[in-house]
Amino acid sequence: MGYKVVIVGATGNVGREMLNILAEREFPVDEIAALASRRSLGTEVSFGDRTLKTQDLATFDFTGWDMALFAIGSDATKEYAPKAAGAGCVVIDNSSLYRYDPDVPLVVPEVNADAVLGYTKKNIIANPNCSTAQMVVALKPLHDRARIKRVVVSTYQSVSGAGKEGMDELWDQTKAVYNPVSDVPPSKFTKQIAFNVIPHIDVFMEDGSTKEEWKMVAETKKILDPKIKLTATCVRVPVFVGHSEALNIEFEEFLDEDEARDLLREAPGIMVIDKREDGGYITPVECVGDFATYISRIRQDSTLDNGLNLWCVSDNLRKGAALNAVQIAEVLGQKALKKG
Ligand SMILES: NC(=O)c1ccc[n+]([C@@H]2O[C@H](COP(=O)([O-])OP(=O)(O)OC[C@H]3O[C@@H](n4cnc5c(N)ncnc54)[C@H](OP(=O)(O)O)[C@@H]3O)[C@@H](O)[C@H]2O)c1
Repeated sequence: MGYKVVIVGATGNVGREMLNILAEREFPVDEIAALASRRSLGTEVSFGDRTLKTQDLATFDFTGWDMALFAIGSDATKEYAPKAAGAGCVVIDNSSLYRYDPDVPLVVPEVNADAVLGYTKKNIIANPNCSTAQMVVALKPLHDRARIKRVVVSTYQSVSGAGKEGMDELWDQTKAVYNPVSDVPPSKFTKQIAFNVIPHIDVFMEDGSTKEEWKMVAETKKILDPKIKLTATCVRVPVFVGHSEALNIEFEEFLDEDEARDLLREAPGIMVIDKREDGGYITPVECVGDFATYISRIRQDSTLDNGLNLWCVSDNLRKGAALNAVQIAEVLGQKALKKG
């Protein structure tokens, strides 16, 4: 006995990965529906060896379906997630719409799997921002051992975090640099992204930070520990897939770099690649298509009594979105919607 699963946004970057990962992890699926906007009606998407034809979200009836994995923008989610949840289908949402709602659990299974059980209030579970997901996987084992006081994080975020239009813009601008007859002005991004970096993701807040930076603060508190202080600078870089983060972590207790490396090696969802030699660390192109959050460059921060630095890289479309959503579906199946 398997589940009746709906993928909402099946033609997008995250939706396609959700279909791949459900098949790769052999999630028990009895029936599957791929939905997108009316524009994509009949578009074919792959699910393992099968090809699915995309249906129109606007006319789909969620009655009788077990779970719906949503990967569309917040506006469309606002319209359709309550319809699915109201029809008895549990929504696992990738947008930011419900992340800060006290009645909706925000879950990274390696960190707070039990929180899934809070889904019953609204029949909705939220997936965090891509930058937060990989970071809290890395922080959790260190926090359990030495209690984190403060984190300073700088991100290097790939263009796929801005959807398929973001990837097209980097591709088209890069080609235009070599073939200057065609000009590709910024559209999805605020400045040229090809051969450039942009210290601005999402809208500006009143205090001068950006919404992406605020999300990392608020989501870390909700998922890991409200007492952790965090400050972030989020930067878009001309990489197609894979987010990187430089983390500076201050602890209440001393944590030796070798012990930290051992703790991270043992922790779920993490791969440590940390040799102090040329190439002995991970870069985003090497993490594409993987499930793991990779950690490199683990070292003591000699300017703090109890401080460490590390480098954290993961496939933002996987751990940052689709994989995390499928892991939540797996936990939901194990803890609540048992079959068979
Ligand atoms: N990319 C990441 O790293 C990442 C990480 C975490 C969370 N997220 C979130 O996941 C969601 C999807 O991101 P993405 O990167 O996959 O975007 P994307 O590549 O631009 O895909 C968007 C998907 O949403 C569908 N869609 C848009 N408006 C719709 C509507 N009114 N009705 C039905 N379907 C609609 C699109 O269908 P059509 O093809 O028919 O237009 C497409 O399937 C966003 O909320 C994003 O913030 C993304």
